[in-house]
Parts: sequence; structure tokens; C-alpha cells
Amino acid sequence: MSILKGTLSFLGVFHIVCGELSQYSFPDNFQFGVSSSAYQIEGAWNEGGKGVSIWDHSLHSNPDYVLNKSNGDIACDSYHKWKEDIAMLKNLGVQFYRFSISWTRIIPLGYSGSKVNEEGVKYYNDLIDALLAEGIQPFVTIYHWDLPQTLENKGGWLNESIVEDFVYYAKTLFELYGDRVKRWITINEYLQICEYGYSSATLAPFLNLAGVGVYQCSHHALLAHGRVYRLYQNQFKASQKGEVGSVIQAFWCEPKTSSMDDQLAAEHYMQFNFGIYAHPIVYGNYPPIMMERIEALSDKQGFNKSRLPRFTEQQIEMIKGSFDFLGVNHYTTILCSFNDNLPQPSLDSDCGVEISQNSTWKGDSLWWLRHVPWGFRKLLVWIKKTYDNPKVIILEGGWSTDENDLNDVDRVQYYREYLSEMLKAIYEDGCSVIGYAAWSFLDAFEWNSGYTKKFGLIYVDFGSANRTRIPRKSFNEFRNIIRSNRIPNSSVHLEIYLPVFYIILCYLLKLI
Ligand SMILES: *[C@@H]1O[C@H](CO)[C@@H](O)[C@H](O)[C@H]1NC(C)=O
Ligand SMILES: *[C@@H]1O[C@H](CO)[C@@H](O)[C@H](O)[C@H]1NC(C)=O
Ligand SMILES: *[C@@H]1O[C@H](CO)[C@@H](O)[C@H](O)[C@H]1NC(C)=O
Ligand SMILES: *[C@@H]1O[C@H](CO)[C@@H](O)[C@H](O)[C@H]1NC(C)=O
Ligand SMILES: *[C@@H]1O[C@H](CO)[C@@H](O)[C@H](O)[C@H]1NC(C)=O
Ligand SMILES: *[C@@H]1O[C@H](CO)[C@@H](O)[C@H](O)[C@H]1NC(C)=O
Repeated sequence: MSILKGTLSFLGVFHIVCGELSQYSFPDNFQFGVSSSAYQIEGAWNEGGKGVSIWDHSLHSNPDYVLNKSNGDIACDSYHKWKEDIAMLKNLGVQFYRFSISWTRIIPLGYSGSKVNEEGVKYYNDLIDALLAEGIQPFVTIYHWDLPQTLENKGGWLNESIVEDFVYYAKTLFELYGDRVKRWITINEYLQICEYGYSSATLAPFLNLAGVGVYQCSHHALLAHGRVYRLYQNQFKASQKGEVGSVIQAFWCEPKTSSMDDQLAAEHYMQFNFGIYAHPIVYGNYPPIMMERIEALSDKQGFNKSRLPRFTEQQIEMIKGSFDFLGVNHYTTILCSFNDNLPQPSLDSDCGVEISQNSTWKGDSLWWLRHVPWGFRKLLVWIKKTYDNPKVIILEGGWSTDENDLNDVDRVQYYREYLSEMLKAIYEDGCSVIGYAAWSFLDAFEWNSGYTKKFGLIYVDFGSANRTRIPRKSFNEFRNIIRSNRIPNSSVHLEIYLPVFYIILCYLLKLI
């Protein structure tokens, strides 16, 4: 049987004819969207009264931070081309569009109490109104990495005073747009902001306070999130009736071997990279294993207190349960193995886990991004078990290529198979996943990869002043999925060749 099955799957047949893809329909009220973020698509970095963000500042003063010295000065030019974008969203048929608001467009100086910029306010008013006119829900990220440089100048996320500045900014947005925006994300991907921005110098503001910056930043970002969640609950929820959550990036970590050490390593990885945010938001405090390990290591390393700050009892109460939905970004699966000899201090050595990839898993342009659909299901089951089955929305997921290819069959396969695994998690494992957004709507400025990594359902010609947009095959596939509310049978009809033969074979296989 396994030889037959192997032969068939080798021929690419088993998949299609035997229907390994889930035949479930998406649940009633399941919502599809696509995601983007301000700095990655808007451009117009100094137009309309906008202030300077850490990305503007870092890449203007150090262009070499990014491949080909690219930056987001123009990006997809969505600041000017948003009407065209909305027409494409309408064509795609999504129920929501997730975009972020640029802090420095609204509050150019960033500080609590500083002036609100009317031109910036108008840009998002127009965008939101036009989306609603097309029946598309605006799903707004308040912070997607573009901190005002003025705030960075006084320590950015390392300075607790940022909490007040963030609360002021969020309150301004609720007052301006909350009558129409019903879903808010406070902060997108804490770990990427904090580890890559403040500890490993790979994203703005490019600081390298290894093992220290990451925790201070995370601590303040969690406090900022919690405060904004409570602010909405206390002052806006009754009248605006919206929902507030945040987004945590999650790889699934598969133990590299079946040894106990590697199984424990995988669990540690999940706790140190996802639990660090999810645990406080759900249960009020950091995962106990993190607090223990970091305290012990800090002591050994001669720090006079744990590098992981502590929440007060009051703060724990405030943060605990600060979500109406758990936003999760999921791209891929990695391998984890136990390793106690990583450079110290660092998040990785605190965790004691080395990550790697399985070279047999299909990859393309980024070493970490592999096609591992079953890992998505395992992640969802782990989240269900670890956090008592919270309401989850997947707010990013996608496939990157180096090529501009409009016939992006790998991206099509990615969405078909990942969504199929998600359906199994919903129907067979009881996970409550209520929406999925693809990353990305458009090819965009992909941070330190510049424009070399393409995630878009829509190709953007960055060589043209017009930033011409052309939908890819995956755009059509995503539209078909939304329209049919299921994963349609493949358009690759091998049945054309020997349909009866294969179908009979499949039945025979089932009988064996
Ligand atoms: C897809 O194919 C399977 C059999 O392979 C069939 O049972 C199912 O009804 C088909 N679905 C659609 C939407 O055509
Ligand atoms: C932190 O922010 C406060 C208030 O904005 C400021 O007075 C202080 O100097 C900042 N700390 C650092 C280390 O920059
Ligand atoms: C890598 O993946 C292959 C299957 O694709 C599997 O047989 C192998 O055990 C995996 N190796 C590791 C280290 O996970
Ligand atoms: C701990 O060390 C820091 C500097 O590393 C210092 O500022 C602080 O005063 C010390 N605290 C105690 C309680 O010794
Ligand atoms: C980046 O630079 C390389 C080599 O200089 C060039 O081949 C490539 O086209 C550039 N890519 C982009 C997106 O600018
Ligand atoms: C600009 O791009 C859009 C698609 O994004 C296209 O419809 C339009 O024709 C282009 N205009 C020019 C002048 O190339």
C-alpha cells in the first residue's frame, strides 16, 4: 500500500484525485482579509505634514542596513494610489483589509499631548470611508514598527514613558476613527520589534543590547498594549462596540529528534518566543519557565537582578485577559534542539534552544520560510491547549519568492494547503479560528530585505514610476477560495489523462 501511495504521490496524483485537501467549507461568518503596513506600502515619507519615523531616520542615515540601499520613501506609493488599491480589494472579495496607521502621519512629534496633523487624519478618513463604501471592514493596526524618531531619541521602547505616548496616540485614533473601525490591533509582532530592533540590530532602531533590550522593550510594549486595551474597554467599548487585540508572530517548532531534550526544547522555544507575549495577555504574567531561567542565568552572569523585568500585582491584573481576539501571524515551521552553549546573554541562550531548518522541506527565497502546512495545524492545536481555546484570527501568512513570476504556483499551493490544515484544526481539533488574512496584499518593502522578497498576491513593478500593480495567479486562487467558501478542487486536472484508472485506484487503496 505505501509503495502504491508513494508512487501515486510521486506522480502528483494522490493529492489531487484522492483529495487530501480538506473538503470542509469555511465556518459561517469566517472572514478573509489581506494585510499590509504603512511603512511598507505608503511611501510619501515627508508629505502631508508627516513626521520622521525610526525607519525614515535609520535608512536615511545608514542606507546599508538594507539590501540594495532600498527604503520605503516611495514603496508602493499607496499614499497616492489608495483608490486603485481599494478597487483591487473589492475585486478580491475580502471581508476585511488590515492596514496600519503611521503614527507620525497622525502625531508628527509622537509625544503625548503633541499636535494632531489634520492632513494625516484626512488620509485615513478617506481610506476608511472608501473601504466601508465597498463593504470592506477596516482592520487597523495601531503600531506596525514605525515609531516616531522623537520618541526613539529618548529611548523608544526601552523607556517606560513610551506607554503614556502610546496611550495618547491610541486614544486619538479611537476618537477619530472608532465610530467606523470596529477591530483594532494595538501592536504587531512584539518579538520582531524588540529582539530585532533592540537586541540583534536587524530592524529599526538597529540596537544590539543582547539579552537586555528585548525584555525591556517587550515589558513596555505589553504595558502599552494592556493600558490601551483597558482604555478602550472603559471609555469607548460601550459606544463604539469594537474589539481590541494584538498580533504575535508564531513559528511552529518541531523537535529536531524525538529525544526528551529536543521535545522540551521545542516547548521552551514556544514559551520564549510566543508565550512571552501570549502568557501575559491571557494569564497576566510571563511563562514561569522564562522567569525562572532568566533569573538564574542573570544571577550567574553577574547581573544584580533578572534581565526580565517584573510586573507589579496591579499590572498583572491590568494585562490579564487584555484581548478580544488573539491575533497570530504564522508563516512556517522550524526545528528545535537543545543547546546550552549559545552566546550569552541573549534571548536564545536564555531559551537554550538552537533552531534549524529541514532541508527536505520545500523552500524558496528565505532560509526560514518552508512549506510545512501540517505545522500550522500543530500550532493551532498547541494554542488551543495552552491558552484555553481563545478566539484566534490569523493576520498574516504567506510565501516569499525572489522572482516576479505572475504564475506563482508555489504561493497558490501554500495557501491551498495551509488553509486546508487550518480547516482540519477547526473541524477535527475544535480550534476556534475565525479569520485569515494573507500577507501580503501587494509586493512591498520587506524591511531589511528591501524589495528583493516578494510576498504579494499582487505584483508591483517597483521599476515604474507608476508602481504598476498586476494580480498574480494566487490573487485569483484566493478570490476563488473566498467566493466558494472552501478550497476549490485543483484546476490542475490530471483527470484529463486517466481519470477512471486513478479514481478506481484510489478506491482500491481505501479498501486495502
Ligand atoms: C472535489 O472533489 C471531491 C472528490 O475528489 C468531491 O468529493 C468534491 O465534491 C469536489 N468538490 C467540489 C467543490 O467540486
Ligand atoms: C525617558 O523619558 C522621560 C520622559 O519623556 C525623559 O525625561 C527621560 O530622559 C527618558 N529617559 C532616557 C534614558 O532617555
Ligand atoms: C525532515 O523531513 C523529512 C520528511 O520530509 C523527514 O523524513 C525527516 O525526518 C526530517 N528531519 C528532521 C530532522 O526533522
Ligand atoms: C544594579 O545594577 C545597576 C547597573 O547595572 C545599577 O544602576 C543599580 O543601582 C544596581 N542595583 C542594585 C540594587 O544594586
Ligand atoms: C538588487 O541588487 C542586485 C545586484 O545589484 C540587482 O541584481 C537586483 O535587481 C536589485 N534588486 C532590486 C529589487 O532592486
Ligand atoms: C498604472 O498602473 C495601473 C495598475 O496599477 C494601470 O492600470 C495603469 O494603466 C498604469 N498607468 C500607466 C500610465 O502606466
